[in-house]
Amino acid sequence: MSQHLSHSQLKNIAEQFGTPVYVYHAETIKAQYQKLTTAFTGQDVKIFYACKALTNVNILKYIKSLGCNVDCSSINEVKLALHAGFAPANVLYTSNGIAFCEIEEAQSLGVNINIDSLSNLEKFGKKYGHSYPVGIRLRPNIMAGGNLKISTGHDKSKFGIPVNQLSDVLCVIEKHNLHIHTLHIHTGSEIKDVDVFVKGIEVLFDIIPSFKELQVIDLGGGFKVPYKKNDHETDIDLLAQKVGESFADHPNPNGRPLQVWFEPGKFIVSDCGYLITQVNVLKDTGDVTFAGVNSGFNHLIRPMFYDAYHQIENISNPAGEEKHYTVTGNICETDTFAWDRKLNEVREGDYLVFYNAGAYGFEMSSNFNSRFKPAEVLVKDGEALMIRKRDEFDDLLKNQVEVL
Ligand code: LLP
Repeated sequence: MSQHLSHSQLKNIAEQFGTPVYVYHAETIKAQYQKLTTAFTGQDVKIFYACKALTNVNILKYIKSLGCNVDCSSINEVKLALHAGFAPANVLYTSNGIAFCEIEEAQSLGVNINIDSLSNLEKFGKKYGHSYPVGIRLRPNIMAGGNLKISTGHDKSKFGIPVNQLSDVLCVIEKHNLHIHTLHIHTGSEIKDVDVFVKGIEVLFDIIPSFKELQVIDLGGGFKVPYKKNDHETDIDLLAQKVGESFADHPNPNGRPLQVWFEPGKFIVSDCGYLITQVNVLKDTGDVTFAGVNSGFNHLIRPMFYDAYHQIENISNPAGEEKHYTVTGNICETDTFAWDRKLNEVREGDYLVFYNAGAYGFEMSSNFNSRFKPAEVLVKDGEALMIRKRDEFDDLLKNQVEVL
């Protein structure tokens, strides 16, 4: 939960740019990134921002300016990262379930690639052999993460090549003389327990001896951020300590010390973001008072999709008497943001702010109900800059082909 932008700053932005609006605070991004770099000082660790969380090109440029690298999950994210100025060597494409032509394109752009299926590994080997160092995404068969929808490393997950298929992997490598540069795992999102990462490292230590040219262990992302008061984020200092100890205890049998990569998304941008909405309608039904805002799951899908909790504050009436509200949206489907939530008295026209809206907020938004996507604003050095215009009516028709 962030208090980095004050109520009055948020109110000014709402008045200047209208609502609903996503607001991001640059200095919070910087502070989160620095927590990581400080914790891992002295270790050979590289951080790749998982840009699926938030891809506005200004955010990418800002994160690049901090010295961070970038992790992508589609070829278009790779192109956005290159457009933002990242050097190909600092771009990672961790693919999953994609057509081989995207891997070919990524190869032609010179970025790092993690391949997540035997089928694509075979195609890659056939085409490039030893010429292009590549990573393999493995499924470590570890259950971790905030809920099943965001758990990716367990033994029923589609992600990665199951680690128990190691002999098949080694066959493909041998057949095509592949140059395996990286072993990657990503077990899920919202992992608070640092021992999950240690467990992942242990799974990899068992198989590392088979990869003679290995240079990198990529442990993915998934650090937890606090969404509620009294929630805690992943203890990054403890993680750094345990990762350092694990690698000290297991020197690479093939000689060269291994570099460690991480791919955090939420940890870097969740806390920096706010969604400011405005109350359209108050509806008292006797047992429930609905506060209906000018947004919905078309703008912030996390509560409906993952039962995610986002702190909400009434910044228009912070001293108002606390009452219970069910906060809903304005789309023609159940789009509840919060059930029975205590808020300072809400009046029609009040601004309600949703916290932790930086990661997977705007990025997962849509035009459902033919509503506009919100504007995005970046606050940097105290200045509020619009970084995306709110949609306009023409945007709804832009790609439609009127044939009738
Ligand atoms: N690396 C890989 C390969 C991933 O699949 C992901 C996230 C990340 C890194 C970054 O994970 P993070 O540090 O952000 O937890 N939309 C969901 C989260 C899904 C994450 C998908 N993969 C949510 O809003 O909770």
